[in-house]
Amino acid sequence: MTTPIVEMRDICKSFGPVLALVNVNLRLMPGEILGLVGDNSAGKSTLMKILTGAYQRDSGSVRISGAETNFRSPHESRKLGIEMIYQDFALCGNMDVAQNIFLGRWPRRFGLFVDRARMYREAQADLLRLKVDVNSVFQKVESLSGGRQQSVAIARAVSFAPKVVVFDEPTANLSVTATDRMLETMTELKRQGVAQILISHRLTDIFAVGDRVMVLKRGRGVGDRYIRHSSEREVLELIVTGTPETALTADEATRGASAQEITA
Ligand SMILES: Nc1ncnc2c1ncn2[C@@H]1O[C@H](COP(=O)(O)OP(=O)(O)O)[C@@H](O)[C@H]1O
Ligand SMILES: [Mg+2]
Repeated sequence: MTTPIVEMRDICKSFGPVLALVNVNLRLMPGEILGLVGDNSAGKSTLMKILTGAYQRDSGSVRISGAETNFRSPHESRKLGIEMIYQDFALCGNMDVAQNIFLGRWPRRFGLFVDRARMYREAQADLLRLKVDVNSVFQKVESLSGGRQQSVAIARAVSFAPKVVVFDEPTANLSVTATDRMLETMTELKRQGVAQILISHRLTDIFAVGDRVMVLKRGRGVGDRYIRHSSEREVLELIVTGTPETALTADEATRGASAQEITA
């Protein structure tokens, strides 16, 4: 059996009295696209930040290609090939495209002078690899549309040669065309063997590119479905009703849920 590239088990995380995640399991296979869905505050971003090491879990385990890990920061997870793209892209508007792609690690000659020629050449190559056309690597990022800014954020992530890319609500602020282009980019990355997790409210997007979808509700995993065996309607129902996978009797559900809230 293939080893999952990411396996998170029994993840728990609270923020003071808030139970953000309760015994959540997540599995991502190499090259797979996993949709991660659920209402606001369901715990999606928290789960992904635990994966990248931006947040520390209270308990549970994270394995990358079978090896137990304990990332203290996104810098550490980056070394093992994990990248996350945030909704606000986290770019520097007053710098150009290439400078953003290589932010914090501009290539240098003799360890001294910024090797501008190489930086712009490699930036161009990163964009080409994604099959996105950013008109010019010399353009300031703030002058670009949302969709193009996002391409830059993705190109930056991809320049680290990741094995896993997490997209947190990437299409929330994008036009229809930009959304389509973004989904094409995901498909292209998949073709290149990059496993991806897509957090989105748009089930249409998840069903367009995803292989599998998992549903969180109030910090708990309530469903995990293969896209080809499911429907937007079924997933929507899981999001709304949160019917747990392990079907409880109505009586157990009422007693069990409240008992868990108190003891957790
Ligand atoms: N840094 C934080 N400090 C306090 N509470 C947080 C923090 N991050 C997330 N939370 C809380 O954890 C819960 C899950 O949030 P989040 O993971 O952002 O949900 P989602 O991404 O599904 O909307 C929410 O109740 C949220 O308020
Ligand atoms: Mg979120």
